[in-house]
Order: sequence, then C-alpha cells, then structure tokens
Amino acid sequence: MSLLKEALQQTKERIDKTLSDLLPSQKDLISPCLESPLIEGMRYSTLDGGKRIRTFLTLESCKLFNIPEEQALRVAAAVEMVHSFSLIHDDLPALDNSDLRRGKPSCHVKFGESTAILVGDALLAYAFEILASPKTHPDGNIRCQLIAELSSATGYKGICSGEMMDLASENTHIEMETIVRLENLKTGSILSFCARAGAIIAEAPEKDLHKLEAFGHEFGVIYQITDDLLDLEGTAEEVGKCVGADSMLGKATMLNLLGRDAAVEHAHMLADQAILHLDNFGEKATLLKELVLFVLKRRS
Ligand code: IPE
Ligand code: IPE
Ligand code: MG
Ligand code: MG
Ligand code: MG
Repeated sequence: MSLLKEALQQTKERIDKTLSDLLPSQKDLISPCLESPLIEGMRYSTLDGGKRIRTFLTLESCKLFNIPEEQALRVAAAVEMVHSFSLIHDDLPALDNSDLRRGKPSCHVKFGESTAILVGDALLAYAFEILASPKTHPDGNIRCQLIAELSSATGYKGICSGEMMDLASENTHIEMETIVRLENLKTGSILSFCARAGAIIAEAPEKDLHKLEAFGHEFGVIYQITDDLLDLEGTAEEVGKCVGADSMLGKATMLNLLGRDAAVEHAHMLADQAILHLDNFGEKATLLKELVLFVLKRRS
C-alpha cells in the first residue's frame, strides 16, 4: 500500500473513533422513545463511511504547524459534522432528491424527511459546541477564530450560498466565472477551512494562511470537477451514491460548460497550481501534494 493510502486508512480509523466518542448515544437520552431517531440519525450519517478527505486535509494542515493530534481530531470531527449536515440536506427531496449516500439509504430515506432535517440541524449545531470547548484549544481567542472561520465557510459566505446557486442555476446557462464561484462556495470554502486549520490554530503568518487558502480553493474545484465526472462516468457501487443525477437535474457544472476533456484538463492545471502553493512547506507537505494527484484519478 502506498504511504498516502496507508495514511488515509489511518485517518478513517482515528476520525471514526473520535466521532463515535463525541456523538451522543442512546444512554444519554432522557426520553429514549421520543428522542432516539435524532441520535440514531446523527450516528448513522456521520459514522462508518465517507472518504474522510476533509479530515485528512485538517490533520495534514495541523501537522505542518506541529499541532497536537487530539486538537486536530476535534477540529476535524467538527468539520465532518458540518459536512454530514450538508450532505443530509443536499440529499433531501427538496434539493437533489437522492436516495443513496455512502452506499446506504440516505438519511431521509432511512428516518423520514422531518427527522433528517433535524439530524442535519443537530449536527451543525453540535460542530460548533465542540469547537467552543476548551478541550479543542485552551486559548479562547483561537477557539473563537476556528468558530468564526468554520461558520463563515458554512453559511451565506460558503456552503449555503453555493447550494443556493446550485439549485437556482438548474437548467440554466451560467458562465465559467459564476460556476467557479458556485464551486468555491459549495465545496471550496470548507476544504479551504480544512487546509488552513493548522495555520489558524498556530496563529501562523498571513502568507502561510494565504497559500493554504489558495490551495484549499483550487483543491475544492478539482474535487468538484472529479465529483461531477464520477456522476457522469462512475457507477453507484463505486461512488456509493446515485449517479447520472446531475444531467437529470440539469446542474450547471464545468463538465457541461467546457466539455469533459477540457474540464479534466482544467482540473490538471489547477492541480499544478495547488501543488505550487504548497512549496513553502517543504517535505511536510508531501502527502498533501500526493493527495492532489490522488484526487485527480479518484474512482470514488
Ligand atoms: C461529496 O463529498 C460532496 C462534494 C462536495 C463533492 P465527498 O465525496 O467528500 O463525500 P464523502 O464524505 O466521501 O462521503
Ligand atoms: C453538494 O454537491 C456539495 C454540498 C455542499 C453538500 P453535490 O450535490 O454534487 O454532492 P453529491 O454528489 O450529492 O455528493
Ligand atoms: Mg447538490
Ligand atoms: Mg447532491
Ligand atoms: Mg455530485
């Protein structure tokens, strides 16, 4: 197994353990028969699945600045909760109406639509409770900065706006510049937070933050192009979600605008740029550079 694959496997094990310990369980409930679908849904949608790319980025970013792993894992757990919230809501009938997620029935298929909305809400709120805890970092200013940056990447300056644009541009033509903005908001903003996490905690110089921010956004667009490509060319078994949905829903994607080959070429060009943005960090950034190349070729 390559070093990167081994590191990705280790990441999965570590984040699953961290999430499992952090998430509530049945024993925490006061009225189990009334509350349990919420807790079951939170665990169902967050544990046991997912490639954990956001966790990996967060942990590798923290390694660049020698941040203790317990802190990095709590930040990554908060990110995975926000990410799970975004996927649960993205799959709802009112958005992408997708029945399959991570090889299992989507949250609303398993638990019903109203529970899925609440599960997403609960995960989103809990993510920030985790960041606010002194266990994440002893310095309140740093905790506040993490909360400010992750909430900004999630709300109207991030995922929610990206999702709004994604829905509003179904079956319409939008220009390249607007698609780039859509993808930066929908996917790049949270990946950029992950890439910057270590620098935020270490209170690193602006120039490091800028390099990692640029890296995160380039990585985000590459990630979305390859996601769209898998929707077009992958199988449900490979990707664990419904495929062919983007063209059915008339999504505005770079693949549609540029054509398949030009979009793939664009992703390669962005990969070169993303790797250049890591040059300052020397050998410590080796796995991050490998991750970029891995994502270009991913099949899931
Ligand atoms: C899916 O993200 C949504 C996108 C932004 C493309 P992932 O493909 O990273 O989902 P998981 O976490 O591995 O299931
Ligand atoms: C959604 O993008 C990204 C989110 C912010 C949830 P997609 O709609 O393409 O993600 P998938 O393909 O359903 O995972
Ligand atoms: Mg969507
Ligand atoms: Mg979707
Ligand atoms: Mg997709």
